[in-house]
Order: sequence, then C-alpha cells, then structure tokens
Amino acid sequence: MKDFSTTRSGLVLGIESSCDETGIALFNGRIGVIVAESLHSQILLHAPFGGVVPELAGRDHIKYGLRLIDSTLKSAGISGNEIEAVAYTQGPGLAGALLVGAQLAAALAYAWGKPTIPVHHMEGHLLSPMLADPAPAFPFIALLVSGGHTQLMRVDGVGRYGLLGDTIDDAAGEAFDKSAKLIGLPYPGGALLSRLAANGEETSFAIPRPLLHSGDLNFSFAGLKTAVANEVRHLTGTALPARGAISAPQPILPDDHPRRADLAASIQAAIVDCLVAKSVAALKRTGLQRIVVAGGVGANQKLRESLNRAAEKVGATVFYPPVALCTDNGAMIAHVGALRFAEAKLDYSVNVKPRWDLAELRAPTPCA
Ligand code: KG4
Ligand code: ZN
Repeated sequence: MKDFSTTRSGLVLGIESSCDETGIALFNGRIGVIVAESLHSQILLHAPFGGVVPELAGRDHIKYGLRLIDSTLKSAGISGNEIEAVAYTQGPGLAGALLVGAQLAAALAYAWGKPTIPVHHMEGHLLSPMLADPAPAFPFIALLVSGGHTQLMRVDGVGRYGLLGDTIDDAAGEAFDKSAKLIGLPYPGGALLSRLAANGEETSFAIPRPLLHSGDLNFSFAGLKTAVANEVRHLTGTALPARGAISAPQPILPDDHPRRADLAASIQAAIVDCLVAKSVAALKRTGLQRIVVAGGVGANQKLRESLNRAAEKVGATVFYPPVALCTDNGAMIAHVGALRFAEAKLDYSVNVKPRWDLAELRAPTPCA
C-alpha cells in the first residue's frame, strides 16, 4: 500500500507544460489512484526543425491546454469544484512553455477558489516509480535520465534528495537524440535509435564510454557524439574539414546504409554501459539496495535489461515507473501535487523557474 500519510488531498489536477508535451491528469491522493489523464505530444510539430522550437512549444500548449483539461474532467465526470488543488510544473523547462501551464493553473484555481501547488518537473519523474506496483520504499537511489538531465540522487523521502552524480556536459537523452540525428533518424531519435539497435551488433564500433573509470559518479556524453560524428564521416567517405576551415557540413548516414543498425547498437551499448556502471557504483557506495529509474530514457529496454542484471548481482532491486509514465505526463505532476498538498496555497501569481536545482527542494510539512 502506498504511503500518502503526509497528505489529506482528494482530487488534484496536474498540468505539465515544461517542454514538448501537454500533459493533464487527475490524481486522487486519498487512494493513490490516477483518475483520468490525457496527453498531447508536439513531436510532429517540432520534427521538421530537428529539435524543440520554444516559441512553437508555447503556442501549442496554449492551443491544447484548456481543451485537454476540459476533456479530462469530462471523461472522469468531474467538475471544477470537486478538485481540491491545481498542481502545475513550475520548472525547470522552457520559460514560455512553463508560463502557459502556470497561467492556466492560476486562472482555473482562482475561478474555482482552490489553491495551487508548484511542482518541480524532475521531482515528478523521480517519484513516478511510486505509481507502479510494487512501489519502492525509501530510501533509494534514483537514476534520472531525460532529455535534459542525467543524475544519480540519494532519496530519503519526499523532498529529501542528495545529489550523488551529474553529467558534466550532455544528458543521456541528448546523447541518444544527437547520435540519432547523425545516423539519419528524426527528432526525438532516442526511441527510434533503440528500435534500430535491436537489429545491430553492439560490438561493431568502438564508441567511447567517457568517465567510466573516473572513480566518481559523474557522466559525460559530449565526446560520444563526436565519436559518432567521426564514424559517420568514415562510413560516408567524407574527409575531415581541412585545418583552419571555419566549418564543414556534417554528413548524415543514409537510411539504407548497411552498417546503420550496427552503429545504433554500438551507441546504445556505450550509453547504457555508462549509466549502469555508475548506478551500480552508487548502490555500492551508499549501501542501498533499491534503485529507481525515471525520465524518458528509462523507457529504453536495453537499459532496463542491463540494469536489472547488474543490480541483481549486487543484491539490489530496480523499480521503474509504468512505461507510459517514463516520458513527460500530467500524472507525475498531479501525484507530486498530492504528496505536497500541505504546501497548497491560494496563490495566483504566475512565477516560473526555467532553471531549478532539485537538491533545493525540502520535505513537505505533514498535515496536522
Ligand atoms: O523525460 P522526457 O520525456 O523529457 C524531458 O524531460 O527531457 O525525456 C525525453 C528523452 C528524449 O531524449 C528521448 O529521446 C528519450 O527521452 N527517450 C529514449 C527512449 N524513449 C525516450 N531514449 C532511449 N530509448 C528510448 N526508448
Ligand atoms: Zn521530463
């Protein structure tokens, strides 16, 4: 049974709009159940540009936000006055996109006379394995792997987070996406690269595993992207730019190249090896026996298989959120809203935090 003893909340509406997904959900904190949820992905909107265009993201959240809230409430047969609080992603993320969700939350909560709860996006990811069955008990290690974050945290309770390791440059999701682009896959390429890798041989290319033996719990993925770019140059017979040349176009591997799947498998294996090695090191260093994986890259099957195997060897158990809750969604925000219900305030200011360190969060004060 999940522990919601710090909350008295009934229905919390959650609004996620930090990046390229509009996620809405209703979560019942009293019984720990997602009552209704809906999601609109902007992938097709941004794909022609090869990445998220912030201005378009904000406009699209405006277009879909209220529409999705309305349909989510209707599908659950719930009216605004039955909702006890409106939780929204306050950060980190794209300022314009966050402002849309914050503004919606403030306007609706004001109209309904209900409090708002600002939520940290990564805390949403971090605690989403608690929505799975079985849920992990505290304390545990969390491996947060998304498009913008790659962190190992020690989690002693809600809001009791200690940073153990971080990426010094690119995030794991970013490494997947940038490599995917180089091998000719559309944005966001992580899941597509992983599908392609299933038909490849992962020892085909010597892709580096940066910081693997650094002795700390940090990650580095920027060099990996350079190595992939060099392999692609080699495979397409493109010469390196001449010394002193200002720039040269980076070749992209054509769709029908016979080594494409092998390169995808080798890239995936390198990223996964780094994530698994540091996760195991974190378990050993802290002596903890539970690790949760959260964030979009947590949907990667190869990561799941390798980490399960490695954790078992050191007597640890791995917990994942349900696959649908690995990538951005409203349920994880409504869920944190319920856990932090004690912090709900009649505050309708629109204030977002595009940059926000997870370690700044504090534990919620239990309800009297
Ligand atoms: O958590 P998320 O949805 O958004 C952020 O907060 O960043 O994570 C998105 C990231 C993207 O980089 C995407 O390519 C990656 O997660 N991703 C995957 C897979 N599914 C999503 N990477 C590898 N394998 C997957 N199956
Ligand atoms: Zn995310």
